[in-house]
Amino acid sequence: FSVAFLENDRYIAYLKGFGTTLYVSFFAVLVGVVIGLVLAVVKYMAVRKKSFRPLGWIANIYITIIRGTPVYVQMMIIYYIIFNVRGFPAFLSGIICFGINSSAYVAEIIRAGIEAVDRGQAEAGRSLGLSEMQTMKSIIMPQAVKNILPALGNEFIVLIKETAIIGGIAVLDVTKAAMNVGAKTYDYLTPLLIAAFMYLIVVILLTKLLSMFERRLAKSDRR
Ligand code: ARG
Repeated sequence: FSVAFLENDRYIAYLKGFGTTLYVSFFAVLVGVVIGLVLAVVKYMAVRKKSFRPLGWIANIYITIIRGTPVYVQMMIIYYIIFNVRGFPAFLSGIICFGINSSAYVAEIIRAGIEAVDRGQAEAGRSLGLSEMQTMKSIIMPQAVKNILPALGNEFIVLIKETAIIGGIAVLDVTKAAMNVGAKTYDYLTPLLIAAFMYLIVVILLTKLLSMFERRLAKSDRR
């Protein structure tokens, strides 16, 4: 085979890998936010309503275990034990793993964002006759979003890079693609620097996007 062919192949490998990195991170964040939101609301309610206490304990145990163990081990357990089903796509195991892992962090992000909304807001909602849940949905949450968003953007950035370990279950993300090029050329540094540059570009773009969004949200505060 010619060198030119190899090089052309390489570009495609990086780009495909990068696509996988973005894809997995995006859906992992989505899964993380959905589960994290449920956990956060459960924890918030557990402090205020007796009937929510058992659920609160479960949420706490979940968060403790997920945050307290390495995500690599979680990935191995999810891929090799839980989804040890023939034909089950590895990238899906990856999305589920990173989604679950992220949800524990997101739960605390959202809970902190909720707690940061002035107590009087909840009291006002309750005294207007809204239920605890209605107050949460239409009074607390819309204000909490502003506290939550920056940290959530941070979580997305963490995930984009954290998914680099997905090569461990044979998914070809951009890091794995770089490692493969390294294995062929006996030079790992250059491919890894190329991968790093790709991460950097997307993180910069994401940061810009987030600060634009934050500024938009801040506008409604200046009345
Ligand atoms: N590297 C950490 C671990 O091995 C995972 C960090 C994930 N952090 C996050 N904010 N989602 O467990």
